Amino acid sequence: ADKTSQYTIGFSQCVGSDLWRRNMLDEMKMELSLHPDARFIYADADNSSKKQIEQVKQMLGEGIDLLIISPNEAQPLTGIVEQTYNKGIPVIVIDRKTSSDLYTAYVGADNYQIGKMAGEYIGSNLKGNSNIVEVMGLPGSSPAIERHRGFSDALAKFNNIHIKAQVYGDWLKDHAQKQLYQVQPDLNTADALFAHNDVMASASREVLNNLHLNHHVKVLGVDAMPGAGGGLQMVASKIIDASLVYPTGGKEAITTAFRILNKEAFAKENILQSLVIDSTNVQLMKMQWNKINSQQKDIERQQSLLEEQRQVYNSQQLILNIIVIT
Ligand code: FRU
Repeated sequence: ADKTSQYTIGFSQCVGSDLWRRNMLDEMKMELSLHPDARFIYADADNSSKKQIEQVKQMLGEGIDLLIISPNEAQPLTGIVEQTYNKGIPVIVIDRKTSSDLYTAYVGADNYQIGKMAGEYIGSNLKGNSNIVEVMGLPGSSPAIERHRGFSDALAKFNNIHIKAQVYGDWLKDHAQKQLYQVQPDLNTADALFAHNDVMASASREVLNNLHLNHHVKVLGVDAMPGAGGGLQMVASKIIDASLVYPTGGKEAITTAFRILNKEAFAKENILQSLVIDSTNVQLMKMQWNKINSQQKDIERQQSLLEEQRQVYNSQQLILNIIVIT
């Protein structure tokens, strides 16, 4: 029998409704389908740190063997993650971090590096004196803190570039737009805008268009998701100028989970690669993705065929048993 059959994995997600996180969950489910007997408990905290703490407590009450968590904000979630870890339940932190190193493994890209790459991209693409607006994620969430630090550090090396305004869009379209209208004078003189994710980047482009500032402002985002509504599409259709790939790590989290549960070797830090996507490579990325996507479809077809065969086999066994008994 599959030695993973007895395991229950809990996944506490800070918010589940956006494209990026739906993709993370799909990746997890795909990988979990290789472990059909494992139990998977999923909870979506809907952007609330308080709710997320309650949901983790509930999972602990139900008896999970391992926790995967993407903490909404670092500080508020640190306590419950440390408690879980100290109880001897392995914790995999994914994408967003806590403020502590009491966890079993981390899966995600290097957000400081992503901010730095964004700064270097802007620095080397703008000529002469230039003004920047930064639209940051949720304050207190680790990717917002780290992307901001990396971005500032990179831009500090270009003395012709000035950050004119920094607003918090909390990762959300409407919050970003509301904040941007508050700094309209800075938008008037902006040459580039860096938003910490593609949702806020396209929201920013909308604001620029509404203010008739669509002249030459370069807009950068993060995530570069493939598929409808994703960042690759936005770069291809020039809604935004560039996006940095931010892999969800869903698959890696599940493979790491089973390594930990099966007492196999695993890495504590699993750092996923990023890359700038702009008009020079977006077609290549889309082609690659289409290929992977069609292979994925093939796998799904094969899986359902296998399932059919299994059912046929089971019913034949049943008939055999009946024949033997009678
Ligand atoms: C999705 C998201 C992404 C961003 C990540 C940061 O909820 O906002 O767009 O890259 O979270 O944690």
